[in-house]
Amino acid sequence: MHHMGKQRTLSIVKPDGVRKGVVGEVIRRFETSGIRVVAMRMLHLTKKEAEGFYAVHRERPFFGSLTEFMSSGPIVVMVLEGENVIARNRLLMGATDPKKADRGTIRADLADNVERNIVHGSDAPETAAMEISYFFSDLDIVS
Ligand code: RTP
Ligand code: MG
Repeated sequence: MHHMGKQRTLSIVKPDGVRKGVVGEVIRRFETSGIRVVAMRMLHLTKKEAEGFYAVHRERPFFGSLTEFMSSGPIVVMVLEGENVIARNRLLMGATDPKKADRGTIRADLADNVERNIVHGSDAPETAAMEISYFFSDLDIVS
């Protein structure tokens, strides 16, 4: 893909990240790499809300455990903005499994295992738009 232009993506610091006190560390990594936070809130998802967010994974064997985990404590949800930010955020996050993630990535440095992996990031423009609208209205996002 050539010429990505300015994009938005949804980032979540998951309950393990909030529990570990690394919200600031995650945001620092975004800011240091020139990614702008344009909306942010903290909330505690119900199991139903976590199931709604992860509906694409409904048939996966880890769905129950994942939604249990995601509703186990407060999370921080953010809209990130920048050139090619979807891919750049996923590079900062590292592979889903922290054991396979490159050194220096958020997951390699901070995560415990493939489920408790500190952060979520949207994986494509269409999912980013859907995920952002799950948590934010247009008026919540600064321009
Ligand atoms: P995310 O959606 O959270 O940014 O992570 P991802 O794209 O790297 O991973 P994805 O395949 O979309 O999976 C969503 C989340 O489900 C949990 N998971 N557990 N037990 C397992 O094998 C397993 N695989 C995935 C992780 O929390 C993952 O981030
Ligand atoms: Mg994903």
